[in-house]
Amino acid sequence: MNSNQPIAKYRLDYVKPDFTITDIDLDFDLSPEITTVVARSHVIKKNALVTKLVLDGEALKLIAINIDDIPWQDYKLTATGLEIYSVPDQFVLTIINEIKPIDNTALEGLYVSGDALCTQCEAEGFRHITYYLDRPDVLARFSTRITANKNQYPYLLSNGNRIAKGQLDNERHWVQWQDPFPKPCYLFALVAGDFDVLKDKFITRSNRQVALEIYVDKGNLDRSEWAMTCLKNSMRWDESRFNLEYDLDIFMIVAVDFFNMGAMENKGLNIFNSKYVLAKPETATDDDYLAIEAVIGHEYFHNWTGNRVTCQDWFQLSLKEGLTVFRDQEFSADLGSRAVKRIDDVKILRAVQFTEDASPMAHPIRPEQVIEMNNFYTVTVYEKGAEVIRMIHTLLGEEKFQAGMALYFQRHDGSAATCDDFVKAMQDASAIDLSHFKLWYSQSGTPELTINDDYDADRQLYRLTIKQLTPATQDQKDKQPLHIPLNIELYKRDGKVIPLQYQANAIHQVLNIHNDKEVFLFDNVSERPIIALLRDFSAPVKLHYDYQDSELIFLMQYATDAFNRYDSAQILLAKYIAINVSNHQQAKPMMLPESVIDAFRSVLLSPSLDPALMAQILTLPSENEIANQFKVVDPDSIHVVREWLLTTFANDMFDELLAVYRHNTTALYQIDHVDIAKRALKNTCLQILAFTSQIHVVDKLINEQYQQADNMTDSLAALNAAVKAQLPCKDRLLSDFDCRWNQDGLVMDKWFTLQATSPQKDTLARVKALLTHRSFSLNNPNRIRSLIGAFVNNNPALFHAINGSGYFFLVEILTELNQKNPQVASRLIDPLIRLKRYDEKRAELMRQALTQLLQLDNLSRDLYEKITKALEL
Ligand code: TRP
Ligand code: ZN
Repeated sequence: MNSNQPIAKYRLDYVKPDFTITDIDLDFDLSPEITTVVARSHVIKKNALVTKLVLDGEALKLIAINIDDIPWQDYKLTATGLEIYSVPDQFVLTIINEIKPIDNTALEGLYVSGDALCTQCEAEGFRHITYYLDRPDVLARFSTRITANKNQYPYLLSNGNRIAKGQLDNERHWVQWQDPFPKPCYLFALVAGDFDVLKDKFITRSNRQVALEIYVDKGNLDRSEWAMTCLKNSMRWDESRFNLEYDLDIFMIVAVDFFNMGAMENKGLNIFNSKYVLAKPETATDDDYLAIEAVIGHEYFHNWTGNRVTCQDWFQLSLKEGLTVFRDQEFSADLGSRAVKRIDDVKILRAVQFTEDASPMAHPIRPEQVIEMNNFYTVTVYEKGAEVIRMIHTLLGEEKFQAGMALYFQRHDGSAATCDDFVKAMQDASAIDLSHFKLWYSQSGTPELTINDDYDADRQLYRLTIKQLTPATQDQKDKQPLHIPLNIELYKRDGKVIPLQYQANAIHQVLNIHNDKEVFLFDNVSERPIIALLRDFSAPVKLHYDYQDSELIFLMQYATDAFNRYDSAQILLAKYIAINVSNHQQAKPMMLPESVIDAFRSVLLSPSLDPALMAQILTLPSENEIANQFKVVDPDSIHVVREWLLTTFANDMFDELLAVYRHNTTALYQIDHVDIAKRALKNTCLQILAFTSQIHVVDKLINEQYQQADNMTDSLAALNAAVKAQLPCKDRLLSDFDCRWNQDGLVMDKWFTLQATSPQKDTLARVKALLTHRSFSLNNPNRIRSLIGAFVNNNPALFHAINGSGYFFLVEILTELNQKNPQVASRLIDPLIRLKRYDEKRAELMRQALTQLLQLDNLSRDLYEKITKALEL
C-alpha cells in the first residue's frame, strides 16, 4: 500500500468547524476554456485556539489571496486545498482562481453540458469551483455575479433573486443574483446557456406570487409542459399535506443532457437530468411521466427538507434524502394510486436495497465510515431511509407525525441538523418512545421475521410467535433486535375480518416487535384464521411463514390491503420458482399446479380489481428480485424458470389474456391514472402473450400494436415484448425504431436498454458493437446507463456468463471511465462486487476482474472503496 491510499472518514470524528463564513460574493467570468472565479467571503473564527484556516480545493489554479483587501503570502497549497496561516478573528477573504470547465468530464463542479455551462456541487463539488469550507454545516448568504458572452450565453442563472444586470463591451453581459437564505455551498448553482423557457406562476396560499421558469434546450418547449404541471402540483401538495409554503419569488428548473444523477435541489434553481423533465406522448412512456412527477416533487420538497433544514455532516444524508423520498412517495400516492405506488416502491427495495445489504457495500441508513461520499447516495440511504421515516409515520399516525415535522422546523429552520434531531422532534411532539426504534439508523442489514402460529379451537385462542433475526452483514457482524412495526389482519374462511382482541381489550393491527422472540395472543377467534402479514409492507424485512397455497390464493382474493394481495401472489410464485430452479438444476421437469394458474386466471377475470393492481399481480418478479430468495444465485436457472413460467401462463391463459388485452385498449392518449392503469394491464398481458407457443398470432399482434401506436408507451411495450420473447418481428421493429429516433438521445436510451437486456445469446457482442453507434457516447451518463448499465444490472444471465465475458467487458469499460467519470464508473461496478453471492467459478472470475481493476493507475477513490471492500483488503 502506498502512502496516498485514500483514507476513510468516521461519523464519530465529527467536530464543529473552526471557522464559519456568513456571506460570500462570487464573481464568475465565464468561458468553457478558462473561467475566473473571485470569491469574497466574510470569515469568522469560531475556535479561539486556532490561527490556521484550512480550505478545501481540487483541480484549481490559484491566482491570488487577499485578506481584508491586502495581498496575503502566508499560505500553503496542499493535496486537498489551501492552508492560510495567522489569520485574524474576523476578516474578508478574497480568493481569485481559475478553472477549466471544458476539461471537466467528471461532471462535478462547473462543467460543459452540450452548449451550456452548469454546476453540480453536491456532495463535495464546490471545492472544484473555489477554495472554501466545503461542508454542509457552514451556511452563508450567497450573492453571485456572472459575466459571459451574451450570444453564446444569453441566460445567466444562479440561486435566489435576480437583482441587477447590464451590458458590457465585446458582446458580453452580466447578471447579479442574491439568495437571501443562508445555505451550505453544496446548494450553490450556476447555469449559463441559450434555452427555450416555459413560464408560469404559482400563487401561494398566503397569496404571494412565485414566478416559475423551466429552461430546456431550444426546440424542446413542447416537452416541458408536464414538468410544469408537476411543479405546480408539488407546490400545492406541500402546502396542503405538510403545511409548507415556497419562500422565494422565483423557482427555476433547468434541464441538462449531461448529469450524473437524477436531479439536484439547488436553492431556487433546480438542475435536472433532461430525462426527468422532457416528455411528450410520442417520446415518453407512462413510467417516464410518473418518474418526472416523482423527481420534480422530490427536488421541490427538498426546499424545506434539505435546504431550509440541512445536514450537519454527510453521514446524516438520510436526514434529507430518506425524508424527502418519503415525501415524494406520499405525493405520488396522493395524486395517483396509493397501492400501485407502494408496490412499485417495495419492488425497488427488494430488488436493489436487499441486494445492497447482502453486498460488500452494506451500510446503515446513517453510515459510520466513508471513503468517497458519492458512493453513499445509495438505495439504502434513500429508499430504506424512506422506509424508516414511513415506519415512524406508521407508529405515530399522520397527525402526530405532522406535529413532529412542525416541531422539527421550529427547532432547526435555517440550520444544519442530525438524524438524532429529527427523531427527537418526532418523539417530543408525539410522546411516543422512539429510543429503541433509533437502532434502525445505525444497524445495517435486512431483518428476517420467522412466524409460527397455532390455534386452540376449544379456547378459541390464536397464538402468534414472532422471532426476528438480522443476519450479519460485511460491515457489521453483531446485530441486535429492532423495533419492528408488523401490520397484520386475521380472516375467517368466508373472507370476513376477525377483530383483534385479547381478554376484552382491542389489539392494534400494528404489532410492536421489540425482542428476539415475541408471543401475541388473540381470543374470540371462532375458527382457525388465515393471517395477512406485513400489510402495506409495514417494515423493510423479509418474512418466513409457512403458508399453504390455498391460504395465499385466499389472500390474493380477500386481503383488504392491496399490497397484501400482490404480496401473497409473490410468495406463491417464489415458492414455485424455488422448486423449479431446483428442478432445473437437477434436470428434472418443471411443474406448476393447476390451482396456482387458476388463481392468476381469476385475478385476470376479476371485474372489481383496479387494472393497475392486476397488472402488478400478473407481472412476474424480475430476475433480480428472484435472486434475493437464494443465498447462492444461479442466474441461468432463474432465467430459464422465469421464461418457462411466462410460457406456461401464456399458453394456459391464452384466451383470457387476449380478451383482457383487447378490452383495455384506450382511445386517445391521455395522462390520467385510469388510462395509465389500462395501458399497464394491456401491455402486461401482451408481455405474457409474447411467450405463447402460437408465435405467429402474437407476432402479428405485436407488429400491429407497434405500427398503430400513437404513443411511446404502446410502441415500446410492443418492441419490448418482441425482444424479450425473441419474436420474428423484433429485428425489423428495432431497426425501424432506430431510423425514426436516432437523433433523440433520450428515446434512443430505451432502444439501447432493449438491446442490452435481450436474452439473445450474442447480446454482449451487440452491446460492444453499439458502443460505436451514432447515438451512443461514453461521455453521456444516460447513454452509459441505458446500454452498459442495463446489460450489467438487468441481464444477469448474460452478464454472469460462465466464461467471464461479461465481467471482462465491464473491466474494459471501467478502465476507461475510472478517470473520465468516477461517479458513473462507481455505480456501474456494483454487480461485480457481489462475488460472494455466486458459485466458486464465477466468484473466482469476478475476483480476477476486480484485481485487474485494482492495478489501474490513478484508481479513483470511488472505485477503490468498492473494490477493496469486495476483495476484503
Ligand atoms: N441531492 C440530489 C437528490 O437527491 C442527489 C444528487 C444529484 C447528487 N446530483 C448528485 C448526489 C451528484 C451526488 C452527486 O435529489
Ligand atoms: Zn434528494
